[in-house]
Amino acid sequence: PASGALAGRRVLVTSGPTHEPIDPVRVLANRSSGRQGHAIAAAAARAGAEVTLVSGPVALPDPAGVTTVHVESAREMLAAVEAAPPADVAVFAAAVADWRVAEDAVQKIKKGAGGPPVLTLVENPDILASVARRTEGRPELVVGFAAETENVLDNARAKLARKGCDLIVANDVSPGGGGVMGGARNTVHLVGSGGVESWETMTKEAVAEALVARFAAALRPRP
Ligand code: C5P
Repeated sequence: PASGALAGRRVLVTSGPTHEPIDPVRVLANRSSGRQGHAIAAAAARAGAEVTLVSGPVALPDPAGVTTVHVESAREMLAAVEAAPPADVAVFAAAVADWRVAEDAVQKIKKGAGGPPVLTLVENPDILASVARRTEGRPELVVGFAAETENVLDNARAKLARKGCDLIVANDVSPGGGGVMGGARNTVHLVGSGGVESWETMTKEAVAEALVARFAAALRPRP
C-alpha cells in the first residue's frame, strides 16, 4: 500500500483551460497553462493519493502515477468530473471558460458579404459549484481557485460563499501581480472561513507541495 500524507485518499484535480468551439477550426480559449493544477496532481500522487486529473488542452505531459482524462470544453470537463471516482479532496484549478458560443457552427465560418459574424455567448455550467453543493458524494474538502486582476481577496471571499467550497486559493494574475498565467511562479492567498493566509511567492511545484500538505492536515483522521 502507498505511504505518504495522502495514502488511501482519492483526489480529483481539474487543470488547464477549456476550449469552447466556435466552428470546427476555431475556439474560445484562455491563457491557462495547467502548470499549477498539474503540479498539484503530481504532488498528491507523490503523497500517496489515488489521483484523477481532468485536463483541458495543455502542452504538458500527463503527470506520473496519475489517471489523466483529456477534455476540451467545459461541458466535457463537467461530464468527466461527474464520471470520476468519488474523491476525498477535489481541487478545481482549471480556468474554465465562463461562456461558450450558443451554437457552434457545423462548417467553418467563411468571410463574406455578411460581414464579421456575431457570436452569441451563453454561460457554462459551474463545475466547482456543482460539486461543492452536492448533497450526496460531496468530497470532504472542496478547493477552488480564483485568478483575479483586481480586488483579489474580496473576490475570493465572495467566491468562497457563492460556490460553497471550503477553501479558495487566490492569485493575482494582473501584469506584475506575481502570478502571471503561464508563469513558473505563483503568489497565493488561502481564503477560508477562518480568514486569509498569504504565502510568499514560490514555484508552482512548491505551492503544490505546500497545498497538498494542507489538504492532508485538513482531512479528518482515519481510524
Ligand atoms: O467563477 P470563477 O471562474 O472566477 O471561479 C473560479 C473557480 O471556479 C476555479 O476553481 C474554477 O476551476 C472553478 N470554475 C468551474 N466551472 C466554471 C467556472 C469556474 O469549476 N464554469
